[in-house]
Amino acid sequence: MGAGDGKAALRRARADPAATVIGVEPAWQQLVAVAGRARQRPERGGAPNLWFVAATAEEPPAELLGVVDEIHATMPWGSLLAGLVRPERRTLDGLAALAKPGAALRVLIATDAWREPVPHALRGLERPSPELVTNALACAYASAGWRITDARWLDTVETRAVESSWARRLTRGHAAPAVLRIDATRDG
Ligand SMILES: C[S@@+](CC[C@H](N)C(=O)[O-])C[C@H]1O[C@@H](n2cnc3c(N)ncnc32)[C@H](O)[C@@H]1O
Repeated sequence: MGAGDGKAALRRARADPAATVIGVEPAWQQLVAVAGRARQRPERGGAPNLWFVAATAEEPPAELLGVVDEIHATMPWGSLLAGLVRPERRTLDGLAALAKPGAALRVLIATDAWREPVPHALRGLERPSPELVTNALACAYASAGWRITDARWLDTVETRAVESSWARRLTRGHAAPAVLRIDATRDG
């Protein structure tokens, strides 16, 4: 969810040809180059098991409702980030509508976004931390059908291993950003 340039989705699809991988991204123009590569034959780096969809978490496509085993929101920003940390019922419900019972949700948040100047969408929101997730967010997630199973900071090695063009951009020439990982399971 929030697939960005789609590179992480392409890598995942190539690594796991038996899986169907769907990258959802409202700013779909970013996906055009990778979508072209995915259409190549597998021996040329293509991935027939990869689909891209122009949509948002809040309004997921009807064709995907209730069929998803794993949802990854890696380095979300904008309304997706605000929806996950405020949290917004529309965002959590939209993700829950996609998920099969027992499906996994993994969110990786670069909390450096809370450094000044804080983006408009995040103003007034507390910088998320494992404590905030446990004390404040877990209840809202639970009422949308998401049971939080873990919330912790990634260490530097884990942060550098995150499959994300955005994470690579953030870490290039800098100290690794503080990344919060949230894991949740869809109650069924
Ligand atoms: C910082 S980029 C990260 C892209 C990619 N996951 C990565 O790690 O390289 C965040 C992405 O979230 C998308 N996004 C923002 N709001 C969204 C929403 N409500 N639903 C789905 N995606 C959203 C943006 O268009 C953007 O491409």
